[in-house]
Amino acid sequence: MPATRIDVQIPGEHGYDVRVGDAILAALGRECRGVQAVAQCPQLLLISDSNVAPLYLACAKDSLVGAGYKVCDITVDAGESSKSIAVAGEVWEAMALLGLGRDCAVVSLGGGVVGDLGAFVASTFMRGMPVVQVPTTLLSMVDSSVGGKTGINLAAGKNLVGTFMQPAYVCASTDVLSTLPEREWACGCGEVAKSAVIDSDDFFFWLIDNAEALRRREQAVVDEAICRCIVFKAGVVAQDKTESRGVREYLNYGHTLAHAIEALSGYGTYSHGAAVAEGMRFAAFLGTRLGLTPAELADTQGQLLDALGLARLDWRAPLSEAMECMKRDKKVRGGQLRFVLLRDVGDWALLDVDDQDVADALESFYDAAPAL
Ligand code: GLY
Repeated sequence: MPATRIDVQIPGEHGYDVRVGDAILAALGRECRGVQAVAQCPQLLLISDSNVAPLYLACAKDSLVGAGYKVCDITVDAGESSKSIAVAGEVWEAMALLGLGRDCAVVSLGGGVVGDLGAFVASTFMRGMPVVQVPTTLLSMVDSSVGGKTGINLAAGKNLVGTFMQPAYVCASTDVLSTLPEREWACGCGEVAKSAVIDSDDFFFWLIDNAEALRRREQAVVDEAICRCIVFKAGVVAQDKTESRGVREYLNYGHTLAHAIEALSGYGTYSHGAAVAEGMRFAAFLGTRLGLTPAELADTQGQLLDALGLARLDWRAPLSEAMECMKRDKKVRGGQLRFVLLRDVGDWALLDVDDQDVADALESFYDAAPAL
């Protein structure tokens, strides 16, 4: 299948291409030479992690060097612990020692952690240099590599420090997904399901019909799922690039509880997508209790998540800690918890929900779970 090029246009920003296709990593250097923001960079910093570097660093580097770029590389430890102030500090120091300037660029080769970290250091070093995203996981292809969020975690919560900076170019070479472990695959499927249910009937019912094929990684279905997610996300970000107009927040469907689960269980214990799936189930459960979400939709969503290999978690977030953690969610205003809830597929509301209602719903949600 030929590569697809999605043109992302965000008001007030440079437009950029997201290229999705088989074995396009080898063309990364040539593609970068065609991107205005990075075409003339005297030096590139290629950031990767200890899982991805042994597999794909050489291919990416050869391609960039082959296109005439001077390239240096840094490999961070794989895992959420690299999205930290300490690791960002080490990368900034290395960038300074390598003599990188504003006319250089960062290339992030990896999943969501490397993507967020690389974009964060790029957006802050010397007050900003371009970043090229080369996502290597399903999660980062369908969500985090597009839209310009950068960030690191604090002990107090996920993504609490970050910036908005759109990438210069995104290269999603889908062949690299063949080495993705099953857990990471299901993780990406969680974000695909989230996009489908908040986007439209068309995407949601397409995904229900193709859930098994996506789980089996059938190439045509994988490519279509990625492209649908990117087109959908680009449309949302175009309306609200800095999540300040009450639109982009709905990409956060399922994330309020998910972020608490990730923080309380220890980052990396459950994948982000598995936590998002649990959070989507809770949002539907809460929405049903509040009379907003039809019970049938909650059931259908649950069946879709099951079909994608995203079962209920075998862990329960302690109630008071979960409430405390959700209170630090970025959607909170004036101390009031706010949830993205569904009226229907593609029809959402951002609702203030009383603390006691949330706590009661969470308790019932856990009581309704299969025995832990
Ligand atoms: N992952 C949600 C967003 O980019 O807004």
